[in-house]
Amino acid sequence: MRLILLGPPGAGKGTQAKRLEDRYGISQISTGDMLRAEVKAGSPIGLEAKAIMERGDLVPDAIITAMLAARVSAPGSAKGFILDGFPRTVPQAQALDRMLADKAMPLDHVIELKVDDAALVERIAGRFTCAKCGEGYHDSFKQPAKAGVCDACGGTEFSRRADDKAETVAARLDAYHRQTSPLLPHYAAQGKLRQVDGMAEMDDVTRQIAAVLGAG
Ligand code: AP5
Repeated sequence: MRLILLGPPGAGKGTQAKRLEDRYGISQISTGDMLRAEVKAGSPIGLEAKAIMERGDLVPDAIITAMLAARVSAPGSAKGFILDGFPRTVPQAQALDRMLADKAMPLDHVIELKVDDAALVERIAGRFTCAKCGEGYHDSFKQPAKAGVCDACGGTEFSRRADDKAETVAARLDAYHRQTSPLLPHYAAQGKLRQVDGMAEMDDVTRQIAAVLGAG
């Protein structure tokens, strides 16, 4: 199965992608996670991307598309994948269309998580992750069962993203509306676009997505 999760920052793409990975045995491909790994490694891509990400702007298409092409061609992607955070511009979507057509690997679904802008700042500002295993949490919506201890790995160190400040979130939302929302008509024209209510509780969003996937 090959699908795209589309939606603004904080819509729940990463949360749902992790659940779908477990449920369907396919890999999450998050260009945001890949970029953060490059930044952490201090690679040439990371050095170029760091300031752009901290401003809330989009990293240039050529860098992202090359990074994504390598990942989609990797053996781990043969069974399928969930694209989380890619594509984000019309040129990225066109590059993906060509890439998948060349490999005879058509997309099955593009699922838009619809969320009100007003909810996103709260979601993003409250987000934190386990520094050891990356498990995601939220100050209000998902605390670890035991305060200060990761449910998944027992880690006790947590971190917050550098681009999760309120002013950067505003720039990220602006980039979404200007550069990414034109992908909705792009995929609607291909008959692939489905929408779910991303304002619902996490488990309910998962059920809505499962219903779309079950519908074939
Ligand atoms: P990226 O890492 O992709 O970030 P994003 O798209 O801004 O999305 P987020 O990770 O912030 O949110 P999410 O939708 O995954 O929500 P989450 O599940 O965490 O990109 C970061 C940057 O990298 C970009 O700004 C750009 O600079 C660069 N970049 C990346 N890809 C690029 C590309 N293709 N082209 C160019 N540049 C690129 O949920 C958020 C919080 O809400 C969590 O705490 C969660 O617990 C909570 N939550 C989730 N669902 C619910 C729910 N239903 N109810 C209540 N709370 C919920």
